[in-house]
Amino acid sequence: ASTAATSVSISGDLSSQLHSGYSHPLARSWQAERQLTKSMLIYPLFISDQDDEEVLIPSLPNQYRRGINRLVPFLEPLVRKGLQSVILFGVPLAPGVKDALGTAADDPEGPVIKSIRLLRERFPQLYICADVCLCEYTSHGHCGILREDGTLNNHLSVDRISDVAMAYANAGAHCVAPSDMNDGRIRAIKLKLIEEGISHQVMLMSYAAKFSGCLYGPFRDAAGSQPSFGDRRCYQLPPGGRGLARRAIIRDINEGADVIMVKPAGQYLDIISDAKELGKDLPIAAYQVSGEFAMIHAGAKAGVFDLKAMAFESHEGILRAGATIVVSYFVPEFLDWLSV
Ligand code: PBG
Ligand code: ZN
Repeated sequence: ASTAATSVSISGDLSSQLHSGYSHPLARSWQAERQLTKSMLIYPLFISDQDDEEVLIPSLPNQYRRGINRLVPFLEPLVRKGLQSVILFGVPLAPGVKDALGTAADDPEGPVIKSIRLLRERFPQLYICADVCLCEYTSHGHCGILREDGTLNNHLSVDRISDVAMAYANAGAHCVAPSDMNDGRIRAIKLKLIEEGISHQVMLMSYAAKFSGCLYGPFRDAAGSQPSFGDRRCYQLPPGGRGLARRAIIRDINEGADVIMVKPAGQYLDIISDAKELGKDLPIAAYQVSGEFAMIHAGAKAGVFDLKAMAFESHEGILRAGATIVVSYFVPEFLDWLSV
């Protein structure tokens, strides 16, 4: 009698046999196209104009807003553990410092420009990115300059935002990253960088596919950038807008972006994968935003999962989708976890 029906036939199709490829932990790691490494990670820093302040941000677990005098002591141990890049967000707190034009954004004595100079000097190997936006500095909290009716004046906004980007680049930022979502800002910044003669040494990272939604709440607490009226839906992308995101990605590549960013990350893995396909010759970044980070902490605290396990799973998903750079509030933990 034949035994072929009850056992694996040695002459038949063996495609059912998969376990052999991942029974060992090392073999499992070989199944991924890329592994999380310290060099992929960018750590967000909130820098206030209160030089000695160090204040915990309640909605953003373990994250602090720091004045410039707190920066170097905080970063020293992280740099020693392998921190390679940070992205700076300025938080002006001094009374009366905000206005309709976001004048304080490129104040040479403001926290971002002073921090760029300080970090370049104190940590010569650290790669400094500067987020470029006006919302932290405008009295109305929107990401650009407004018309009388409260809508964005795109032309004035792009002009102003590209000036701010230039100020950060001239102060020594390795990378400027406009997050404002005004149309045409990548081209405007690139042209000014070329004109200034520094385009060869300043990377332009576009928050090209930045979606509107409720995941930026803790960030806006940290940065004090909640809009005073309305919301950001007319300039940040609608959550269902996959085609729009693809158009924004293609546009920003054509306007001269060196890196395309997708944000938030976890809910937009298809967009990361689109960015990887459309920008197959560019590095792709993803930002695991404040609300995602806070949710993971809340889930761990509620006993839904282990914090470290979810931190790894969420970042592995982001890498699998196609990102090669991750902006993440988990960076200090990963510097320990990736050391083994
Ligand atoms: C500023 C900016 C925001 C974030 C990055 N740059 C907030 C916003 O657009 O409201 C969000 C980052 C986060 O939530 O962690 N435009
Ligand atoms: Zn903004």
